[in-house]
Amino acid sequence: MGGGFIFLQPLAPEITNPIGMQKDPSRAISSDAPSVPKHIAIIMDGNGRWAKERGKSRIDGHKEGALRVRDVMRAAVNAGVKYLTLYAFSSENWERPKDEVSALMLLLKTSLQKFGNELIENQVRFMTIGDISALPQDCISEIEKLKNATSKFRDKNLVLALNYGSRDEIARAVRKMLGDAKNGGLDAENVDWKKISKYLDTSDIPDPDLLIRTSGEMRLSNYLMLQSAYAEIYFTKVCWPEFGEKELLKAIEEFGRRERRYGKTAEQLEKSC
Ligand code: FPP
Repeated sequence: MGGGFIFLQPLAPEITNPIGMQKDPSRAISSDAPSVPKHIAIIMDGNGRWAKERGKSRIDGHKEGALRVRDVMRAAVNAGVKYLTLYAFSSENWERPKDEVSALMLLLKTSLQKFGNELIENQVRFMTIGDISALPQDCISEIEKLKNATSKFRDKNLVLALNYGSRDEIARAVRKMLGDAKNGGLDAENVDWKKISKYLDTSDIPDPDLLIRTSGEMRLSNYLMLQSAYAEIYFTKVCWPEFGEKELLKAIEEFGRRERRYGKTAEQLEKSC
């Protein structure tokens, strides 16, 4: 994630009004508008394939992907999205070739170093989900530094999923719950979803409204499985290194056309409007 960027820049002319709400192209779409997702979660897939098609290395693909993190963050803020959660490294990604894992860790560290100031200047809170204790110490230090520097911000949030997987998250949550139950801090009779959700890595983060996966794959790959129970899912064939503002706005536009029923009937929803 290279050089400086400024949030709230004018959007490109062809996408100034992607969901029929934003009349002033120099400002964000109102986040109060129901069709702008409050929280977008993205599975950034296809770096390797994008690179291979161009005769480049997988690591070049990740480098290009890191630049899109910056662009998509900027676009999400412009659109009025309050939370953006990106699947940067899964608990299963450790199985990749050693040099790729090392390159991803280095890219994470250098991106945070380059990206950090811009997040601070633009008052974006930086958070992570996943067990970061397994990351290299220099990455952990950069993460903690940036978390501390942005901890007071609330309106705009960038969440990186690092060494994250839903099954691992649940296992950690259950271990903690059992510990609390043993100490008398948790009553088994009162365990419900609300209580469980407080033990998840996302206890501070609302559920995703829109989940995007790039590169044509149609799987959730252990990503926010419980939190996405009512998320709208959007798959695109575009590989992550080519996913920019225009693609994000297309996904938001599609989200605006979906009817979220949360288990109710369309008639019930009409009545409550
Ligand atoms: C999946 O594409 C992508 C990843 C496992 C890593 C995502 C990492 C980045 C976007 C760059 C670094 C991110 C930050 C936050 C600095 P893939 O390589 O599995 O693609 P493929 O399926 O085409 O091989």
